Amino acid sequence: MKNPFDILEQNSLNFKLTPISFREIFFIAESPCDIYAQVDGLFKVVLYKKAEISNTVLRDLLQKKLANLFVMEDDRPSLRFAQQENLRNVIRSLSIGDPLEKAKYATNLLAINLGYLYEDPTDDNLLNLQVQSAKNLATFLFNKPQIHEALYKEFIKQGHHYIFAQPFLSTLFLLGVMKNTRLYIDKDIELFFLTSYFKDIGMSAIPVEKYNDENLSEDDRKLLASHPQLSVNILRGRVPLPPNHLKIIENHHIYSTLTNQLNLADKDDPNVVFGFETMMISVMDTVAAMITDRPFRKAESLYKSLDLIRLLIGEQYPQEFKLIVFYFKNFFKGM
Ligand SMILES: [Fe+2]
Repeated sequence: MKNPFDILEQNSLNFKLTPISFREIFFIAESPCDIYAQVDGLFKVVLYKKAEISNTVLRDLLQKKLANLFVMEDDRPSLRFAQQENLRNVIRSLSIGDPLEKAKYATNLLAINLGYLYEDPTDDNLLNLQVQSAKNLATFLFNKPQIHEALYKEFIKQGHHYIFAQPFLSTLFLLGVMKNTRLYIDKDIELFFLTSYFKDIGMSAIPVEKYNDENLSEDDRKLLASHPQLSVNILRGRVPLPPNHLKIIENHHIYSTLTNQLNLADKDDPNVVFGFETMMISVMDTVAAMITDRPFRKAESLYKSLDLIRLLIGEQYPQEFKLIVFYFKNFFKGM
């Protein structure tokens, strides 16, 4: 039987512990703090501070069904710090070693760190690290189109929440299609990469768990619909994006289905002019979203997503539409 002291201790742990995701202890050689799990209904330390975290240790935790982990609220920063260091190191050494392995590792860490940024979008260190990483990754991937398809598949396999996966996926497509046009130099591509990657940062206004449910409350829906503007508010003056790129972010749902009535109406308004780049970013975002699973729906086929894109832009941008179809058919030819 539990003694009163145990009950008191458990109550106090319940109060001080905060959940972490299992993937947050990947790629860390030793535990930066005590890590807890619930064992037979009680919080117990499963990894003490400085304990080695090997693949065997990770597998063992999974086998014992101890994947729901917790750390003391005060220790959370130490874990974040370790993953920031990991990202910084891999981004610095992107060109060393196998390109696909490096890109897999970097994008995985980028998504984990994006999660931290969403928890606190006002944190300049987290934002700067994302900017620097996204820039380096843009140049690296621009020069390595041969690994894009494999990277896409590997990134999907990592199973990040779609809120943290979607920015990279849509941006990977954008990079590929922009490279194909041969209209842009590296520096342009880097800016568009950042624009596309950060366009949804305003979605951090809504807690991630809520995105598992298709039916958001009225207030949350309004917040979600205003995420392009919220993104601009978060980014303005803090990231190296010129005003016209912030304008693209503001309008990035013009050709998407998220808030469709409003956007389709805007699209047909002759007074509203949206450039080719806004269209591209919006369209790549739509395709990336449609062809990947969501907690509340299955992925659509590429064919179906391109059919929607044809409806959205086919008349206004016939040549560009062909280019997009060509790009995706080529991209997925092995699938
Ligand atoms: Fe968006």
